[in-house]
Amino acid sequence: MKSSTGRWVTGADFFDRETELALLQQRIEDGNHISLTGQRRMGKTSVARELGRRLEQKGWVFLFADVEGASGPEDVIAEFAKQIQRVQPLFRRFGSKFSRWLGDHIEELSALDVKVKVRAVLDDANWRRHGETLLGDCAAHEAPVLLVVDELPIFLKRLQQGEDGAARVDRFLSWFRQVVQDSPMMQDNPMAQDNPAGSLVVMVSGSIGLGPLVERLGISDRINHLAPFRLGPWDKSASEACLRRLAESYDVQMQAAVPGAVYDKLGIGIPHHVQSFFARLRDHARKTEKICLTLEDVDYVYRNELLGPSGQNDLVHYETRLKDGLEQANYSLAMEILAEAAVMEVFTAQARRCLASDYRDIVDEVRARIVNTLEVLIHDGYLEESADGHRFPSRLLRDWWAARFRDHHIPLGDRQRTGCQEPG
Ligand SMILES: Nc1ncnc2c1ncn2[C@@H]1O[C@H](COP(=O)(O)OP(=O)(O)OP(=O)(O)O)[C@@H](O)[C@H]1O
Ligand SMILES: [Mg+2]
Repeated sequence: MKSSTGRWVTGADFFDRETELALLQQRIEDGNHISLTGQRRMGKTSVARELGRRLEQKGWVFLFADVEGASGPEDVIAEFAKQIQRVQPLFRRFGSKFSRWLGDHIEELSALDVKVKVRAVLDDANWRRHGETLLGDCAAHEAPVLLVVDELPIFLKRLQQGEDGAARVDRFLSWFRQVVQDSPMMQDNPMAQDNPAGSLVVMVSGSIGLGPLVERLGISDRINHLAPFRLGPWDKSASEACLRRLAESYDVQMQAAVPGAVYDKLGIGIPHHVQSFFARLRDHARKTEKICLTLEDVDYVYRNELLGPSGQNDLVHYETRLKDGLEQANYSLAMEILAEAAVMEVFTAQARRCLASDYRDIVDEVRARIVNTLEVLIHDGYLEESADGHRFPSRLLRDWWAARFRDHHIPLGDRQRTGCQEPG
């Protein structure tokens, strides 16, 4: 197993998740569309890719469209077209309808060519029709197709922030639901008749909650065809086993208590954090020429590496995702809430009243915004509710934010004001 701290992993580098994969595979084979959610770096993309890889071995077609960079539905459809270029029989069917724009020698086009050419044709008036043709072709294909649409909520968020945003999000989601559910091609497909659920299954995924986004727009029913599936952290034994497997792969010796100590430092088994910890322990063993890693090494690496400057780089990723997912005013509130929960270890009801009082003249509907922001922070796994307020489940994340804000965050209860009453 290779150590990885960057992108998604599959195959021999993919660890555990057998239960989740089995459940997801069953649901997909039963024809259910899915919304895969989970906290940042929990391994959503890896699970989706690994599932696709396994289904491909069973004869499925697996299409993976990352729509993080899309600015409109036209880009999303062009990305779908790029993905089907890989599946020649499917692409030929689609290409024959698009030959006017793609030319006669479609087999010579690269995936990127296809994306660019299809994108050039699409506009606000025709993306629905062409998108329907494309997904209809997938549904009519002789093999069942799994289409994963990764980072859909980031795309929708961007769409929402543009002109006429809420209506455009609604139009896209309504179209997507209708075309996925009712594609008439499905009934024409002989294979789909054996499998009445149809032969195109979609799974959307993303780190920003799709649920909170559509709720805020009052259009929750637009995603009710997607069965939610939440990817949680590894438990202690899986996290420890992953660490031991990595250590074996790289011939790194460690005391028996080291994997347990790593998990205790992290507080929760987010796969990316387990991998990062291992990569830094391994570097540390090399630099210090240690034969066998000890508990002191775990302490040292946690304090100086994970919480040090290079670890801070990882935090930027968490912050960027929040910025992408929240409106500007809610983002400012989120930063205050996280700073308070990190520095004070808990964001209490009293702190919440102080925050509302501080921001009531700066943003409108401050109380509703705090409720919504907290919902997102809980949904996205930053915070969880406890008896006395909201806390970070991840110790690493809490310590990261604390290291970042300790010098500038004045605890909400200590700020000068006339009092922390609920705003009127
Ligand atoms: N099953 C796994 N086995 C081993 N490592 C994993 C696994 N899943 C995730 N990881 C680790 O976590 C990192 C992030 O994985 P991935 O990109 O799949 O997560 P994600 O939830 O899609 O992240 P993001 O929130 O950034 O979209 C990987 O580079 C790898 O280090
Ligand atoms: Mg991902």
